[in-house]
Amino acid sequence: MSRSAPFPTSAPFPTSGAAAPVAVAARATELSKVYGQGETRVVALDAVSVEFRRAEFTAIMGPSGSGKSTLMHCMAGLDSLSSGSARIGDVELASLNDRELTRLRRGRVGFVFQAFNLLPTLNAIENITLPMDIAGRRPDQAWLDQIVATMGLSARLTHRPSQLSGGQQQRVAVARALASQPEIIFADEPTGNLDSRSGAELLGFLQESVPALRQTVVMVTHDPVAASYADRVIFLADGRIVDELRGPSADAVLDRMKAFDSKGRTN
Ligand SMILES: Nc1ncnc2c1ncn2[C@@H]1O[C@H](COP(=O)(O)OP(=O)(O)OP(=O)(O)O)[C@@H](O)[C@H]1O
Ligand SMILES: [Mg+2]
Repeated sequence: MSRSAPFPTSAPFPTSGAAAPVAVAARATELSKVYGQGETRVVALDAVSVEFRRAEFTAIMGPSGSGKSTLMHCMAGLDSLSSGSARIGDVELASLNDRELTRLRRGRVGFVFQAFNLLPTLNAIENITLPMDIAGRRPDQAWLDQIVATMGLSARLTHRPSQLSGGQQQRVAVARALASQPEIIFADEPTGNLDSRSGAELLGFLQESVPALRQTVVMVTHDPVAASYADRVIFLADGRIVDELRGPSADAVLDRMKAFDSKGRTN
């Protein structure tokens, strides 16, 4: 399948139709994550059950410290669970040894870290292709070109992270996650350092990839406008899912956020 620009006009898979079975790209069941013990014990996730359907764009929102990054890390196999289950497709992450987990992460999951996690000694294009280089996979050049162009990085490919602005580093981190065409992309505040135009371009790109490539996207954001690009929004508070909104508008998201604020935080 060609993924050269623009996205294929006709999707290779049916994108609608009631008869199509709902495929689940990732699923958490009663997932709990506890950090520390005694006085430093923090229940970051408290028996969270949620599914992320194939070719669906989910936004995760909630106050700072509510467990958003922890949920993404546990689902992507980057952190262990305290109890419960996390699956990518049919694969139970806890059943994998370290090597199998690494292979699954490299092959099937794209992750955009809140703190970018770029290697300072590599330039932009080397950072983008690093996961594939490690895995011994050759990138699809047309796809790579499209991502680089969409992220506005063409003139910055030989710059190191220290020579890039925060927003440019963030776009490199997003390009890296997309480059290997993973089944599911977890993006932790991918627009947090972008101006509104770059943010809108990135969000539009993620949104289009969902029907065009049957891409599954899970994105943490604090921004109601960013969340409105998603098919649904789940709201976390104190390590629990407290609400869900489908077909969100920015105003509807804002209203829900205000409702939580007015109820007051429990800590
Ligand atoms: N490695 C860790 N050790 C101990 N506690 C941790 C660790 N990582 C996260 N926590 C705690 O778990 C809770 C959830 O953290 P998490 O990073 O998931 O929040 P978040 O919703 O992503 O917040 P933010 O919006 O600020 O990024 C917080 O109380 C945090 O202090
Ligand atoms: Mg976070």
